[in-house]
Parts: sequence; C-alpha cells; structure tokens
Amino acid sequence: MYMRKRMFGVVGHPIEHSLSPEMHNSVFRAMGLDYEYSAFDVYPEKLGAFIRRCAEENFIGLNVTIPYKISVIEYLDKIRKEARLINAVNTIKFGHRTAVGFNTDGIGCVEALRDVGEDVRGRKILILGSGGAARAITFQLVLEGSQLIITNRTYERALELKKEIKEKLNKNVEVTKFSNDEIKNYIENVDILINTTPVGMFPKTRSTPISPDLLNKDIVVMDIVYNPVETKLIREAKKVGCKTIDGVGMFVHQGAESLRIWLDIEPPIDLMRKTVLNKLK
Ligand SMILES: NC(=O)c1ccc[n+]([C@@H]2O[C@H](COP(=O)([O-])OP(=O)(O)OC[C@H]3O[C@@H](n4cnc5c(N)ncnc54)[C@H](OP(=O)(O)O)[C@@H]3O)[C@@H](O)[C@H]2O)c1
Repeated sequence: MYMRKRMFGVVGHPIEHSLSPEMHNSVFRAMGLDYEYSAFDVYPEKLGAFIRRCAEENFIGLNVTIPYKISVIEYLDKIRKEARLINAVNTIKFGHRTAVGFNTDGIGCVEALRDVGEDVRGRKILILGSGGAARAITFQLVLEGSQLIITNRTYERALELKKEIKEKLNKNVEVTKFSNDEIKNYIENVDILINTTPVGMFPKTRSTPISPDLLNKDIVVMDIVYNPVETKLIREAKKVGCKTIDGVGMFVHQGAESLRIWLDIEPPIDLMRKTVLNKLK
C-alpha cells in the first residue's frame, strides 16, 4: 500500500524566501528520516482551515512565521507555558487530531549564546527592541535568571513589556530610552547586548541600531538579524574586540528545538548552520 510521507512545514504569508525547508530537509536526509518539510503560503482567511487540515492529515509539525505567530493561537487546542507567556506560537505539534502550540524563539537565542560558551544566568543583558522576537527572548532570559535592561524606539512599548514581565513572572527589569546618550549610562555594566531590531538588515546594511563607539571589548554582542550574516553592528563589534554571535545561531537553534519537540531527536547543529549559510551566500 502507498503511504504518504509524514509532513512538516512552515506557514506564513508571504513565504517564498524561507530558509526553513532546506535546513530541516538537510537534517532528514542526514539522519535517514523519510520526512518532507515544505513552505506553505496561506491567505489569512484560510489559516484556520489549513491548520485543521494539517491536524487531520499526515502532519507531525509546523513552524509558524510572520504574520501568523499570534493569530494562529485561536486554531490550536493547547498552548504551552512559554508560548502563553509570550502570546505567540512559532511551532505546532500535531497529535491525534489535536494541535499544540510552542514557542522556540527564546530558547533558540539562549542556546545560540550557550553554543559560544555564554551562560545567561545572572548576566546583565541589554535588549534593543520590544517587538515579537524581543518578547520571546526577554521572557526566556527572565526565566533563565538574567538581569535585563530593555530599550525601544517607542519607549511606551518597552514600559509595557516591563509591566507584563512583572505581572506574569513577578520579576523586575530596567528600561531606558533608545538614545545613545541614555544607553551610555547603562552599557558600562552590561555583559551581553542583543539587537532584536531589524536595523542593519538587507537592504539597509549600513546602519547600526546604536553607535559602535558605545561598545567595549568586554561586551558579548549578538545580532539576531541574519541577512546579512555579518551585520554592520557585528563587524564594528569585532573591530572593538568583542565576542560576537550572528543571527544564524538563533535561527538554527529555534529550528533544532522544534525538531526536539516534534521527533525527540538531537539534531546536527553544524549541518543546519552550514545549510543556512550556504543558502544565505
Ligand atoms: N535570528 C532569528 O532566528 C530571528 C527570529 C525572529 C526575528 N528575527 C529578526 O529580528 C528582527 C525583528 O523581528 P520582529 O519579528 O521582532 O519584528 P517586530 O515585531 O516588527 O519588532 C521590531 C522591533 O524593532 C524596532 N525597530 C524597528 N525599526 C527600527 C528602527 N529603524 N530603529 C530602532 N528600532 C526599530 C521596533 O520598535 P518600535 O516598537 O518603535 O516599532 C520593534 O521593537 C527582524 O530583522 C527579523 O528578521 C530573527
């Protein structure tokens, strides 16, 4: 009897430049797993029907990307703790006609830091931005015991995130205005800086979110932008002598965590990184 391949995929709109299919399919090939991962461009009004069909058909898991990380929640049967805290889902696991939502973005960031020997517990971390990715990262870092300073172009949004963290986790974070003058007062004592804004992303690759003059060699600088792999912020930080982590690290680790959830396997991180870097060349 012909059996259809067990399916995985990423759903978004638009979706044509996703790096996920090649990254996950390279893992399936290397591990001899007869699975297939595809990209699905789904219109907003079709999202509910698409998720229901996946639950009824041969799907094991889905990743969810822009613009559906929040709106997909209403079509799921259960939401795991981290996804509920962030109020966003980037990974779905299908069971017997059920769909459970997870979020692996925050753990992806923490694992990318661990990869280069940086533990986050007790470390002072400056977060640039308060958007979707920043929310996932900040909640995870607070759960891991980091001390956070959050700054955002729209200051009120940073204040809202601070309030939400206090209400949901009963933890305090600091906030500051998004200006070089204000950030200067905090950066001396910071161990790690994470840029979660799109500043520096293709095609505006000549920008940095803060002045590189503020950096010193003792700060670990992470940029979650991965196109280009080496952003101007990362380039300038290297010149100062900082340890740096590019956005491919978080991308690979959020995908690896999805694979652990779906299949309970330990994915080949080096291969995943190599596949993504090849695609970004
Ligand atoms: N490596 C990975 O795995 C990974 C995962 C997710 C996202 N990302 C990347 O992370 C970036 C942000 O994604 P997101 O989903 O969080 O986006 P988002 O929800 O739209 O949030 C964007 C954030 O950046 C701030 N921002 C935007 N333009 C700015 C500017 N010109 N100057 C200063 N701040 C600015 C926004 O501030 P306001 O509140 O003032 O608008 C907001 O805080 C994107 O480049 C995305 O590709 C990478």
